[in-house]
Amino acid sequence: MSLIAGCRSAGSRPGIESDSDVQITSDSGMVVSAHPESSLIGVEILKSGGNAIDAAVAAEFALAVCYPEAGNIGGGGFMIIREADGRTDMIDYREKAPLGATPEMYLDESGSVVEGLSTGTCLASGVPGTVDGMVSIHSKYGILSFRDVIQPAIDLARNGFPVTEGQAQDLNLNRGNFIKRNRKVPVFVKNIPWIKGDTLRQPDLALTLERIRDLGRDGFYSGVTARLITGEMKRGNGIITPEDLENYTSEFRDPLTGEYRGYKIITASPSSGGGMILLQVLGMIEPFDLKAMGFHSWQSVHLVAEAERRAFADRSKYLGDPGFSNIPLAELLSNEYLAGRMDSFRPDSASSSAVTGPGSPIPDGGVQTTHYSVVDRKGNAVSATTTLNETFGSSIVVDSAGFLLNNEMDDFSVKPGVPNMFGLTGGSANSVQPGKRMLSSMTPVIVEKGGKLFLTAGSPGGATIPTSVLQVLVNVIDHGMNITQAVGSGRFHHQWMPDQISYESNSLPPATLERLGLAGHKLSERKSIGRVNAIMIMPDGKMAGGPDRRGNNCAFGY
Ligand code: GLY
Repeated sequence: MSLIAGCRSAGSRPGIESDSDVQITSDSGMVVSAHPESSLIGVEILKSGGNAIDAAVAAEFALAVCYPEAGNIGGGGFMIIREADGRTDMIDYREKAPLGATPEMYLDESGSVVEGLSTGTCLASGVPGTVDGMVSIHSKYGILSFRDVIQPAIDLARNGFPVTEGQAQDLNLNRGNFIKRNRKVPVFVKNIPWIKGDTLRQPDLALTLERIRDLGRDGFYSGVTARLITGEMKRGNGIITPEDLENYTSEFRDPLTGEYRGYKIITASPSSGGGMILLQVLGMIEPFDLKAMGFHSWQSVHLVAEAERRAFADRSKYLGDPGFSNIPLAELLSNEYLAGRMDSFRPDSASSSAVTGPGSPIPDGGVQTTHYSVVDRKGNAVSATTTLNETFGSSIVVDSAGFLLNNEMDDFSVKPGVPNMFGLTGGSANSVQPGKRMLSSMTPVIVEKGGKLFLTAGSPGGATIPTSVLQVLVNVIDHGMNITQAVGSGRFHHQWMPDQISYESNSLPPATLERLGLAGHKLSERKSIGRVNAIMIMPDGKMAGGPDRRGNNCAFGY
């Protein structure tokens, strides 16, 4: 069984770059992720008889080694599973606020937010969830031994791997943070700039992964690793305690489901808000004929942006950790409510976010994350998004344990109305409270067509995650694109506040931009939005990989 490989950008892995228009297809299994090494490790697990969950767990641990920008054991994420027989599941391995966290912890005496506290210090870290998530999901669904699925990541950490061109840039750009925020200079810093092909070896991380291999969750949440984490906290005035680590558990939850033009959409439920945004926007745009409007016509961009404005306004008021507040999800997703939200939509002019706030569903009453998709030969599918929050998280490496800590606490609303690093605001539903999960935008999705697996997708990008995923679905379902075109096309985004449409350079046609401006939209150009990694099942049953041309994403199949 030969290996099929396709990486979208030069500098990923010598010899396997693909023309960005060429479809990457395979018959028996596929992994699409942010780095060639993790995609390769995942597909080797499939070839050796593992199922999609084994491959996903192997890829997740591999990403913690080869993609420290966002892959992690010091962060968290969300995974959606669809078994070949159609059963679905979700694991929420989002970080939690430490028990010592308080709503005022990021404010000074005058009540102002202290800059950098929720992003670049030990106080920025939530209690990591990835290890518990991977151990739990593997013990529920894996068919290979845990040892076999984690070992490739250990070998990768110990032996090293060649950094990609994009990674060399990321590491060089973050050099100052690594030096400033760590007592000992971490392995991510070199005396001379990183260049493509340099080897990154992580011996401390290899030892930590070995403890996880040998002891499961205890290899991280107790014993040596826990002592190293709490030691780092003491040095950096952080508040994660042994009790926080012992108490952490990931949660199996029902995924959110909805319909769009006859396709079934299965996506993340809170504590991510991404799934709700996706389903709300799809519900608001479904009554309109997007295909007739045309791809990237000003009318279609205006319609989608207005729906996004309304969905993000609702997010700011209603969403947070479901364990801490009652989220009126059924009401927020009902057809009547969504139709009512679009009553104020005008096809020829922009609304104003100052006027169009959150709705009343009950009558009176960034930028770095990473996504991978896996499908095995039996049709089991995994769609998982994982993160440290910002690129390299807090940039703080746990001394002698070799892994980066997240800065996910910034995803809380640290003060009502004050935007976080993604410009998102929130209120009490997403305030800091001990043991609470901070609201996410991660939107792993699996789509069914006619009761069969059709597509898996997801993206990094903070607030732009659900809107990036949305555009891939609309590109496929409304505009009839193949997965390469759907993932590669230019993107735009509206998130209520700030009241603007951001769009990628060279994406929307000049005539569309001009007409959107005349309709009253503020426009803001961005270099790049999202990095989707998707797999689509084609009519002949083959799997088509959609690694995004943005970044060093790679599809490996066989
Ligand atoms: N940290 C990005 C997100 O969860 O939305």
